[in-house]
Amino acid sequence: MKKIKVGLIGAGSISVAHLNGYREHAHLAEVVAICDTNNSLIEQRKKEFNLQAESFTNYHEMFLNAQIDAVDICLPIMLHKPVIMDAVKAGKHVLVEKPMANTLEEAKQIVKSVKRKGVTLMVAHQQRFSEQHRKMKELIDSGKIGKIIYARADIYQNIRVVLPDGHWHYSHRGALISLGIHKLDMLRYFAGNIKRVSGFHKTAMMPMVGQPGIKGEEADDLGVAAMEFENGALGTISASYCAVAHPWHDSIVLHGTQGCIHTIGGLYIKSEVDDSFRDFIKIKIAEDKKSVHDYLRLTSGYAGEIEHFLKCLLEGKEPLCSGQDNLYTMAAIEAIYLSGSTGKIVDVNRLIGEDIQ
Ligand SMILES: NC(=O)c1ccc[n+]([C@@H]2O[C@H](COP(=O)([O-])OP(=O)(O)OC[C@H]3O[C@@H](n4cnc5c(N)ncnc54)[C@H](O)[C@@H]3O)[C@@H](O)[C@H]2O)c1
Repeated sequence: MKKIKVGLIGAGSISVAHLNGYREHAHLAEVVAICDTNNSLIEQRKKEFNLQAESFTNYHEMFLNAQIDAVDICLPIMLHKPVIMDAVKAGKHVLVEKPMANTLEEAKQIVKSVKRKGVTLMVAHQQRFSEQHRKMKELIDSGKIGKIIYARADIYQNIRVVLPDGHWHYSHRGALISLGIHKLDMLRYFAGNIKRVSGFHKTAMMPMVGQPGIKGEEADDLGVAAMEFENGALGTISASYCAVAHPWHDSIVLHGTQGCIHTIGGLYIKSEVDDSFRDFIKIKIAEDKKSVHDYLRLTSGYAGEIEHFLKCLLEGKEPLCSGQDNLYTMAAIEAIYLSGSTGKIVDVNRLIGEDIQ
């Protein structure tokens, strides 16, 4: 079978999770090139993963010289848009880490260029592919909790424990678009698209600098929102970089007309339509006991997302979290930012615009 030839751009922390995924699915793909401005990091990854890949410190040269079908972009968020646009121009399929881009406007431009060029774009929302969330989706879709009426997700970390001073995460747009987007995407996956939001965001503790065009005081380390979904359900979300007592917390709670499912301390379900779930039952998931370190690197979601991307390319299918699908996640996050800065409830579809829906 033909293998996809992949060029990895960005050999930093999350690249390890991606390289694990390619190693696990070596029958589907080969990482033949790695690009990073830090050459010693490239060499480190090649050694760790026993790769014969070509090395590049300039991604333009990789596009020109490496024999690659697809690129996997693991770069700081502010570089996503320019690098995706160049990759698409060079006719490469793209897997990009979340968020797709720094703003919804950038994401729209990306999706338009992907459509024009006819390549595949997938956003690496690995949470959709974890064992826990796959099981959750199966239980929800088989009607165990009835119709979802309330959806809540929280994600927070103590960024000072996780990342050193001066890391680019302290000078980008903030916790909502970096962390919150994981959970917003999952709420969409489980409960459907979001219709309107009312949000708040602020810099509570961190010296967040913000990106060009986004003033420092608009960069958030704490954000919350209330939401109405297209199907009438209501929801809430919170995202924080400054949870001093928690290196990492990440949970979803879904209440349905006939039960509840949540991921606080594991996957739990209570159902009125299935006697085996009459009382809250914990469903055993292999990755329950992972630490923060393992969470970032080894959970099943990353290998699953890589497998999904590769299979979509080999079988000519649209990825579950394609660029087009992801516009609705990006729009919901943008709506929270807009609501926070205007004090108004924001209509998500209106932000996307009719030309690209
Ligand atoms: N899905 C997840 O759970 C998860 C977790 C962490 C990070 N991320 C995402 O992954 C992406 C990367 O984050 P990270 O934590 O790995 O960052 P990182 O800083 O550890 O790695 C980024 C790498 O990009 C390299 N780089 C910077 N500019 C470059 C350029 N112009 N050309 C080539 N290389 C360049 C840096 O040298 C660095 O090695 C971000 O989009 C982030 O949001 C996702």
